[in-house]
Amino acid sequence: MTMRSALDILGGQPLAGEVAVHAAKNSALYLILAGLLSDEPVVIEGVPKLSDVLVGLEILEHAGVEVAWEGADVRLHAREVRDTSAPYRLVSKMRASFVVMGALLARAGEARISMPGGCAFGPRPVDRHIKAFAALGVEVSDDNGDFVARRRRPLQGRVVFEAPTVGGTQNVLLATALGDGVAEIENAALEPEIADLAELINRMGGCIEGAGTPFIRVQGVDRLGGTRFRPIPDRIEAGTFMLAAAATRSDVTLRGIRPDHLVAVRDKLTEAGVRIVDVARDAWRVDATGELTGVDVTAVEYPGIPTDLQAPFGAFLATVPGVSVVRDRVYPDRFTHVADLQRMGARMELTERTLVIRGGPLTGAEVHAADLRAGGALVVAGLAAEGTTRVLGVESIDRGYERFAERLSALGASVERVEAVASSDVLASSVAIASSGAAASSVATPASGAAASSEGAAASEGAVSVGHSG
Ligand code: EPU
Repeated sequence: MTMRSALDILGGQPLAGEVAVHAAKNSALYLILAGLLSDEPVVIEGVPKLSDVLVGLEILEHAGVEVAWEGADVRLHAREVRDTSAPYRLVSKMRASFVVMGALLARAGEARISMPGGCAFGPRPVDRHIKAFAALGVEVSDDNGDFVARRRRPLQGRVVFEAPTVGGTQNVLLATALGDGVAEIENAALEPEIADLAELINRMGGCIEGAGTPFIRVQGVDRLGGTRFRPIPDRIEAGTFMLAAAATRSDVTLRGIRPDHLVAVRDKLTEAGVRIVDVARDAWRVDATGELTGVDVTAVEYPGIPTDLQAPFGAFLATVPGVSVVRDRVYPDRFTHVADLQRMGARMELTERTLVIRGGPLTGAEVHAADLRAGGALVVAGLAAEGTTRVLGVESIDRGYERFAERLSALGASVERVEAVASSDVLASSVAIASSGAAASSVATPASGAAASSEGAAASEGAVSVGHSG
């Protein structure tokens, strides 16, 4: 029998108190890659110790970067680049690793990056990255499952993204930061993580203008130096805590946030009846003790509601009386959490990429986090549900929520990390029960088994594998 970590949540209790938001995973992942751009040490402060970050650091070590944790800070020293490849073993664990291509191109002039695999919530291609590199004069070919990229001259030219891409924009910023050329990006992604990377590169001596707007201009420089840098706070983590507070009708204060990064989330929660009060420059009190009403949520690019909060929003709305509608224009099929929420009693129907929710009480059940934000959603639902929810697939949650159980417990939630039988074993035993004519187990459903097996290679072993996300 394979044992896996799970979260056992005894729900239905309000949260109270304060929580400090950690640094943004989706910024830290790119900031550490910038360590490759200099032969001097770059220190990224307060890096969350998440499995995705550890994969990113492994990719850097593979390239020859010296990586050292100094408390919560990470010191990166790329004296030289020894290897310009990123193998499938690492890229398949985390799609964001593909962005090391830009950093390697800038520093070493070449990169061989394995093609990222499938993912748990619909297609996530890298075609826009490749087209952008081609527009800048990079020769890109595919060879045996790898993309091979070469720069024969300084990168320069104009990239026009047909639609914005966060990773694509970060890849171009890294690739063009060094060298004697000018690169322009049109229709760049606006997410705050882009401006964060540009600010780090500028502090290292780079010359990037316009990051955070759709038009970015990069003037390459000869060399970049070392520096220390603290990433922006994690707006997705903050949003998840806000939705957890809302779903449990709690009064919770968030500290260490960037309110300007959360305007759309605040507006939508306010529309639903949650009271959000500024208590300091970087702190919000989220009071969901009043009457709440259903709302429509469409996840779009920044500054709209982030796709990474779409699933947690759905979990919250499943608890709110009235009808709500949820759509995702960034990842239209990101609904792996729906079957599990239905198992918890959520009245929701997914038709043509539109989730219609008729909110009401939830009850605890055994569920499986098929990807990171599905995990966030199931935890939000579990906190609100009557009875015990066991969330399997905690490996997905560990990718993006640092010490989640501990921090929710500090807010008064009853959340415990336990070792549970892997869902493949549970599935096998439920099949055995069903085929012997006994009552079907309430533990596993074909839906949870299917979600697990769509996750990739490691799924064959025990279903709660590291998915493809980030
Ligand atoms: N797209 C393409 N071709 C490309 C690139 C993107 O078609 O070459 C499409 C994607 O399929 C998607 C849309 O463009 O429909 C936007 O994708 P984007 O490239 O912006 O996403 P990403 O860079 O791969 C980052 C975050 C995701 C987050 C998205 C959207 C990181 C490490 N990941 O992914 O975060 O959902 O932006 O905001 O920054 C997560 O944290 O759970 C997560 C998945």
